[in-house]
Amino acid sequence: MPDAPIVTGIVREAEILVITNRKGGTGKTTTSVNLAAEFAATGQRVLLIDLDTQSHCAVGLDVSVRRGEATVHDLLLDDTLRLRPVIRQTQWPGLDLVPADPLFDHGAGHAEQTRLARALREEGLLQAYDLILIDTPPSLDMLLMNALVAARRVLVPFVPHALSNEGIKSLARVLFKVSAGANPDLRLLGFLPLMVDRRIGHHRGVAEGVSHQFGAQRMLSGVRGDIKLVEAFAHRMPVRYHAPKSRGAEDYAQAAREVAALLAS
Ligand SMILES: Nc1ncnc2c1ncn2[C@@H]1O[C@H](COP(=O)(O)OP(=O)(O)OP(=O)(O)O)[C@@H](O)[C@H]1O
Ligand SMILES: [Mg+2]
Repeated sequence: MPDAPIVTGIVREAEILVITNRKGGTGKTTTSVNLAAEFAATGQRVLLIDLDTQSHCAVGLDVSVRRGEATVHDLLLDDTLRLRPVIRQTQWPGLDLVPADPLFDHGAGHAEQTRLARALREEGLLQAYDLILIDTPPSLDMLLMNALVAARRVLVPFVPHALSNEGIKSLARVLFKVSAGANPDLRLLGFLPLMVDRRIGHHRGVAEGVSHQFGAQRMLSGVRGDIKLVEAFAHRMPVRYHAPKSRGAEDYAQAAREVAALLAS
């Protein structure tokens, strides 16, 4: 694991960005894996934490998790465990993963919602990384609450169709509640339209509706539909390595530039 950067005596803290939407299948994991790879490729030290028990980030980053190996879900249920030993290096420099437990029993117990935030802070991980990304399940449970309490910024990938407003509205209510209580530092960073076709008036209309409601400056350019993104996942690598000239690679490079600009603003 990298050492903390000391810049004229000031230790910088990682940005913590949660990728979330209350709807399933909106590109959260695809976005988590590919944004993480983009930021790591620009020399940033990136940690991706997979809170979704589908455990797909490990697949997309070619990390094998054997039965019995510790995961972030063990940490959430056992106060004596530490997060650092759960961190796995990927084959891409600067890109580390905290894998999920595909066998996690959602009825297994109640972690406190501050557990992840505490582990990141107390184990010095905010100094060890520049960017911490958290992939989340669509469910509203203690997993999502741990992500929202640990994070400072929220990125919402959404597929612009008729039902997408429901997931966004429901998420906005949760964000409002968390920022009014457990995590006053939590802010909405932006919306990333996924599988967009700008020629389709309906897609444009939904994206414009979201812009209107939350502010046009929060609407990112988006990621077009691209089978290379699906293939890259099947080949267990980020799209920038699987198909560097593809639309998916181009769009995620642009999304990373836009996210970096919003994080800096
Ligand atoms: N831009 C895209 N073009 C084509 N296919 C895509 C694109 N983005 C995502 N997909 C595919 O859509 C499916 C859902 O994407 P993904 O798993 O990232 O969504 P998710 O929000 O993480 O889902 P879940 O809620 O189940 O965790 C995957 O098969 C993925 O490969
Ligand atoms: Mg997912």
